[in-house]
Amino acid sequence: MIPRREPVITIDGASGTGKGTVSQLLAKRLGWKFLDSGALYRVLALAAQKHSVATDNEKSLEVLAEHLDVQFIARDNAFPTIVLEGEDVTEIIRTEKIGNAASVVAALPAVRAALLSRQRVFREAPGLVADGRDMGTVVFPDAELKIFLLATPEERAMRRLKQLKEQGISVTLGDLIEELRLRDKRDQERTVAPLKPAEDAISINTDHLTVEQVVEKILQEIDLKKAFPVTSTLATEAV
Ligand code: DC
Repeated sequence: MIPRREPVITIDGASGTGKGTVSQLLAKRLGWKFLDSGALYRVLALAAQKHSVATDNEKSLEVLAEHLDVQFIARDNAFPTIVLEGEDVTEIIRTEKIGNAASVVAALPAVRAALLSRQRVFREAPGLVADGRDMGTVVFPDAELKIFLLATPEERAMRRLKQLKEQGISVTLGDLIEELRLRDKRDQERTVAPLKPAEDAISINTDHLTVEQVVEKILQEIDLKKAFPVTSTLATEAV
């Protein structure tokens, strides 16, 4: 008999669609583990910068990815603390510069292959919410539920602008839209694991929806699917 694997919900989509916040809140509601796969690519980009490895040096990046000394330390009500080689890099990996470098290194097939098993070890009981670009297509193709989040570039840029303003960083909306378009193009057009919905994914347009409303929609899909027994947790826990 094939052993039953722990259930997985994949949440894929472009940056700024709210994937991260939605996935983290969903994991909390379900009491499940949470994988922020984009953070792995971001940490690799930062490690490359730290060790003076160029973002097109596939062989060295592959070795770096295989030996990446990174820890994700879970925190209540917050994204995990991320530690690279003993240093807390939770904040520094979120800059636009590192995001763009992450998108460049993520296009390299050897890098993606090296990070595959690192992502799969997050699949632990009672279940996993996995956030990324290729969670439903490549990393967890057997996931019980696959969600693909959509939003217009304008809406995504507005959300990012708000976040950056809160951090005291000033950028123009036009520059952000342009950066998002470039990043989307690179993520969608790469030959390996491009950003696209899995054939069996359910797409949700998040324009004009709050994070809580998106999470509610996903919880409704879980209820409809009845693929795994989580309804009792949901019934007792308010957002
Ligand atoms: O979700 P994010 O913005 O933190 O991701 C940063 C970059 O990493 C993104 O531009 C593309 C890449 N990425 C990827 O290729 N595959 C994933 N599963 C997650 C992220």
